[in-house]
Amino acid sequence: MAKKKKSYYTKNDKATASGISFAAKEAYNLLRTNLFFSFSDDVKCHVIGVTSTISSEGKSLTSANTAMAMAEAGKRVLLIDSDMRLPTIHKKLGFKAAPGLSNLLVGMNDVEKAIYRLEDKGFDVMPAGNTPPNPTELLGSARMEKLLNGLSAHYDYIIIDLPPVTIVSDALVASKYLSGVVFVVRGGRATTSELAEAMRQLEFSNVKVLGFVYNSAEGAKNNNYSRKYSKSYGRYYGA
Ligand SMILES: Nc1ncnc2c1ncn2[C@@H]1O[C@H](COP(=O)(O)OP(=O)(O)OP(=O)(O)O)[C@@H](O)[C@H]1O
Ligand SMILES: [Mg+2]
Repeated sequence: MAKKKKSYYTKNDKATASGISFAAKEAYNLLRTNLFFSFSDDVKCHVIGVTSTISSEGKSLTSANTAMAMAEAGKRVLLIDSDMRLPTIHKKLGFKAAPGLSNLLVGMNDVEKAIYRLEDKGFDVMPAGNTPPNPTELLGSARMEKLLNGLSAHYDYIIIDLPPVTIVSDALVASKYLSGVVFVVRGGRATTSELAEAMRQLEFSNVKVLGFVYNSAEGAKNNNYSRKYSKSYGRYYGA
C-alpha cells in the first residue's frame, strides 16, 4: 500500500502550521503520550475517534495535531475525515475532499486513490469524499468495518475526525469499531447540560471515553509563547 500512495506537501496548512504555539505543541505531545499509555501493545492498530458536544469545538484541529504528534514519535498514522456532511480536514490541510471515505463506502475499490501521504508531516490523510445522502448509515456500515480492517494492517493508529455527538449520531454508530474517543470541550461553547447529554449518549452507546481535551482560546492571550492558538488540557482520564 505505501509504495503507490500519492505524495503531497501541504501548501496552505491551517491546521498543523509550524506557527502553533509552543504550549499547544507541548499539550499535543502530552495528549499523544497519554493515548499511548491508554493502550496495550498486543493490539496492532488502535482506532481513535475525536468528537465533541457541538460544532466548532476544535475536533479537526485536535485530530490533525494528534496525528502529527504521533507521526513525530515514529508511528504510522492515518487521519480520516468522517464528517461527510461538513468536511474540513482537506481545507485545513490544503487539498481536495474527493475521492475520499464516502467514495470507498459507496463502491470505489482503489483505497490508494483516497489516501494522501503528507510527506512534510509524516502521516496519511483520507478526506471525507463527496457528500452522500446517508452519511450515518455509511459510517455504521459493514463496508466501513471492512475498510478499517484492511487499513489496520498498515497503520499503528487510525484517527477518525467525527461529527459532534449531539447534532448527529455518527459518533455513536462508529462505537463498534472505535478503541475509544477523545472528547474535545471548547471553553464557552456547549452548555453543561448539552455536555451532560453528550456524555449520556456516549455511555448509552458503550463508547469508551479515553480522555478529554479542553480547548481554550483564553490561554493564547496569557501565554508568552503563544502566537496562534493555545490548547490547555483538563484532567486526562486514561482508559
Ligand atoms: N483554541 C483555539 N483558539 C482559536 N481558534 C480556534 C481554537 N480552536 C479552534 N479554533 C478555530 O475554530 C474553528 C473550529 O475549529 P475546528 O474546525 O477544529 O472545530 P471542529 O470541532 O472540527 O468544527 P466542526 O464541528 O465544524 O467540524 C476553526 O476556525 C479553528 O481554527
Ligand atoms: Mg471538524
